[in-house]
Amino acid sequence: MMKYSIKRAAVIGSGVMGSSIAAHLANVGIQTIMLDIAPQELTPVEKEKGLTLEDPNVRNRNALQGKQSLLKQNPSPITTKDSLELIEVGNLTDDLPRVSEVDWIIEVIVENLEVKRDILAKVEKHWKKGTMISSNTSGISIHAMVEKCSEEFRKHFLGTHFFNPPRYLKLLEVIPTNDTDPEVLSFMKTFGEERLGKGVVEAKDTPNFIANRIGTYGLLVTVQEMIKGGYSVGEVDSITGTLIGRPKSATFRTLDVVGLDTFIHVAKNVYDHVEGKEREVFDVPSFMLKMKENGWLGQKSGRGFYEKKKGETGSIIYQLNPDTLTYEKQSKLKTAATEMANQAKGLANKMKALVYAEEDRAGDFVWSITKPILIYAAKLVGEIADDIISIDQAMCWGFGWEKGPFEIWDAIGLRQSVERMVNEGEHVPEWILTMIEEGHTSFYQVKNNQQYFYHDQTYKQQITNEKEINLQHLKNIHGIVKKNAGASLIDLGDGVAGLEFHSRGNSLGLDSIQMINYAIDEVNKNYEGLVIGNQGKHFCVGANLALMLMEAQDDNFFELDIVIRQFQNMAMNIKYSEKPVVVAPFNMTLGGGAEVSLPAAAIQASSETYIGLVEFGVGLIPGGGGTKELYLKKLRNLPSGIKFDLTKVANDVFEKVAMAEVSTSAAEALENGYLDRNDGISFHPDHLLYDAKEKVLSLVKSGYQAPKREKIPIVGDAGYGAMLLGAKSLQYGGYASAHDVKMAEKLAYVLSGGRMKEGTLIDEQVMLDIEREAFLSLIGEPLTQQRMQHMLVKGKPLRN
Ligand code: NAI
Repeated sequence: MMKYSIKRAAVIGSGVMGSSIAAHLANVGIQTIMLDIAPQELTPVEKEKGLTLEDPNVRNRNALQGKQSLLKQNPSPITTKDSLELIEVGNLTDDLPRVSEVDWIIEVIVENLEVKRDILAKVEKHWKKGTMISSNTSGISIHAMVEKCSEEFRKHFLGTHFFNPPRYLKLLEVIPTNDTDPEVLSFMKTFGEERLGKGVVEAKDTPNFIANRIGTYGLLVTVQEMIKGGYSVGEVDSITGTLIGRPKSATFRTLDVVGLDTFIHVAKNVYDHVEGKEREVFDVPSFMLKMKENGWLGQKSGRGFYEKKKGETGSIIYQLNPDTLTYEKQSKLKTAATEMANQAKGLANKMKALVYAEEDRAGDFVWSITKPILIYAAKLVGEIADDIISIDQAMCWGFGWEKGPFEIWDAIGLRQSVERMVNEGEHVPEWILTMIEEGHTSFYQVKNNQQYFYHDQTYKQQITNEKEINLQHLKNIHGIVKKNAGASLIDLGDGVAGLEFHSRGNSLGLDSIQMINYAIDEVNKNYEGLVIGNQGKHFCVGANLALMLMEAQDDNFFELDIVIRQFQNMAMNIKYSEKPVVVAPFNMTLGGGAEVSLPAAAIQASSETYIGLVEFGVGLIPGGGGTKELYLKKLRNLPSGIKFDLTKVANDVFEKVAMAEVSTSAAEALENGYLDRNDGISFHPDHLLYDAKEKVLSLVKSGYQAPKREKIPIVGDAGYGAMLLGAKSLQYGGYASAHDVKMAEKLAYVLSGGRMKEGTLIDEQVMLDIEREAFLSLIGEPLTQQRMQHMLVKGKPLRN
């Protein structure tokens, strides 16, 4: 048993990171007090209000502003507004003693050693033995901050480096000092992973730790190679983004987002504190210093490596010319190698097409930046991290690289690339040359379905958390029970089957529907239960729109009727399966994705689940029973014994569907009625399938029985009228088109059960039949078809 636990935390500092770390702690349910400096002077507004420096709103002004800023940011740092209630604010003068009330104190103030030392010394005075304390510094020495503190304090101190924005970026670097108690370190790693849902990497206490050290080096090498080769900012960005497995923002858009001042500060930290040949790279080029002097810091100051200017036909983005420091038209680089890389499948083939291209301006550039990054990463193994896996994970989770340096090295061929490096006179670290001499050809190996990595002259097995179910891995070991183009049935072990979607965007077509039906039959015969989930980018972006549009344009309404019937039946099969079906949505779970989730015995959702019935956006209403299930779920969750207004519930569902509302998190889905208290939320995306499987097993253990066939109480005519009233008033206000109102009429008709008497109980199938009829009539409408077409071509809704 660990002796530590964290129920309450104190965040010191409420700036960009302090406030968003407090938000993330609140998101996972940790009560947090956020402290910042108490102001010395009143603002004009405060003076006008007659406030004094003694007023709590003035004394807590900084932290209060930090908290308020959480409501304004996009993407939102909070999963629901309720999170804010868990954040209490205070100031460092009056409230510092309150750090004795918490289990974890995290320092998130300015990046300055002296200031950090000073605050930590003050904190120690009120620190209660056993409380963990950490710093979120991006790169300052962790041990130097607490040199003068007591041994007991130092035992509980370590670095916990979140990446910005903490809710969304996976990496958490945990940095122990020589004095950190191993139990504190071990607790923090587990807590970071299990509770905060982060990808935790242990880093050594060296300048900028892992990701910022290599990331900053990589960005600076790119700038220097650009200057050397006379490339333009736009050209470099066109080949250093997704083409080579990096984020879309590539090099210079990333720098503009980070801010040049912050970037220069981070680079200087390495320059000032490390030695060796590569140190010079951290000497920021003079044109960038000049940019900083000019205040061209990037997004926050309106211009940086790019500048947006208003043109006659909208905004135009210009690129900086580093020689003249003027802005010019953007340029891109297209060569034979970029064409080949674009055509190639998978990052390994793309990278090979580029780095081994002969006399190609893009290929030469990619090689010229890849080579030093690989060599630098190899040199730093042992110094910044214990092993290559930590470095690869840190780069992927912190900088959004698709593959880390050693994975890229394997991808382009270790031997071939090292041979070329040596021929080009590079100094490749000894351990790699030895590794090759000994006949090894890659950093990673898969043996007996286990992954191994090269470490200390041998291959070491990669140990992963048992909660990380990897579907590909399972398929390699156990094979696939059944597969078609849209989905596969897999054995997840312990009597639980898994149904994985794998079509494009995981959209639902007839093949996935058939596979779900097959899976439920199979599970009822041979398994304890079923998980519907996958490990793609999104759980499911909806039904296969292209297919439906094609049928509609060919007037194949008979076919469409069959498809919708099958979809509805499949949803009913999920609902009434004898064995429990648990659905595990994450990220986009739209339209059909929501309709697969709602009827399940339970949902185990990722904390990042964006779920909604969005069919209105393409001129349709939900066709797979989604409206009915959302309505029923809401009814089931009303407190029993209290008289409620059915019309209100129907109206609520009507609004959600008519506005195509999508939750911005699982917590919000819980508020919107897509989830309820029987459903679960997973904070770690890689643990989702495990949690869903556990949910199946716990349902089985508690004697799961399929629900009894439900009767639906309907709102009838009066409810129908109330729903339409809303739609009509939107139309009068110019917010809804005539076609919107037509769709709203259909939806209201479905929800009111075909306008029967209020309170009538109808069979589910009746509502499904009305829904199908309404759906088919809408899909035949030219305006709906235009909306579908627009979504398919442009990827956004058309208002018509
Ligand atoms: P910020 O400038 O937004 O906020 C700094 C905070 O420090 C403010 O709350 C300010 O009131 C407080 N502060 C300033 N002087 C102080 C003093 N003398 N005593 C007590 N508090 C004082 O800075 P940001 O970006 O939130 O950075 C905070 C820490 O997080 C730094 O160590 C930074 O390196 C680190 N970090 C920043 C990231 C980023 O992207 N901004 C990413 C990861 C780490």
